[in-house]
Amino acid sequence: MKLFLDTANIDEIREINDWGILKGVTTNPTLLAREQGDIEKAWRTILEIVDGDVSLETTEPEADAMYEQGKYLASLGENAVVKVPMTPAGIKAGKRLTEEGIRINVTLVFSPAQAILAAEIPAYIVSPFLGRIDDAGADGMHALRQICEIYEMQGYETQVLAASLRHPMHVIDAGLCGADIATMPYDVFTKLVKHPLTDKGLESFDKDWKKLLEETGQRAPGTSTNRKGA
Ligand code: E4P
Repeated sequence: MKLFLDTANIDEIREINDWGILKGVTTNPTLLAREQGDIEKAWRTILEIVDGDVSLETTEPEADAMYEQGKYLASLGENAVVKVPMTPAGIKAGKRLTEEGIRINVTLVFSPAQAILAAEIPAYIVSPFLGRIDDAGADGMHALRQICEIYEMQGYETQVLAASLRHPMHVIDAGLCGADIATMPYDVFTKLVKHPLTDKGLESFDKDWKKLLEETGQRAPGTSTNRKGA
């Protein structure tokens, strides 16, 4: 499962991108509004930093204008993926963009029925919003499982991107459902690496290592303080 960051914050993207495992970024108007900066500059910077798909969202409600905006968004970078909403206009604009070889991400998907429509376009990516389904009192993971099963049975090639993820369990369950991609905010991404037993283990290894060096008078082989010539 590919891991994406769901943010328009450049510092967060640079930090996680430095780990070397980031496969893409998703943005939306709310995330851009949070940053308050120059919109086009933000899009271009993200496209440049990330070696992977970057979803940029259309904001025009009518199909023709959405299609034109989508063409502009796609022109910003080879790794740009155009987000269109799951509306009749989004399907129409998405179909035209797809026919021209532009990759689309159908966003604001909340049901398997909507995911079937996205696959029939055929979209490059479909984004079911798990957290928001949960917020509405339904079961987001159940919807994701159904979408993955339907796609598998029907042989749809649209990638399923689990979106609106709120905590690490969402990421784990999305992986178990067979999602192709999981996108998450910075705080969820950084929580994935954390485990109290890792911290505890590191602490005791460090203590025992230092004791060994002290008791035997050795310098640690291979470390920066003890490399040949150092
Ligand atoms: C995905 O592309 C969306 O930007 C995102 O996951 C929405 O998440 P939210 O429900 O936390 O706003």
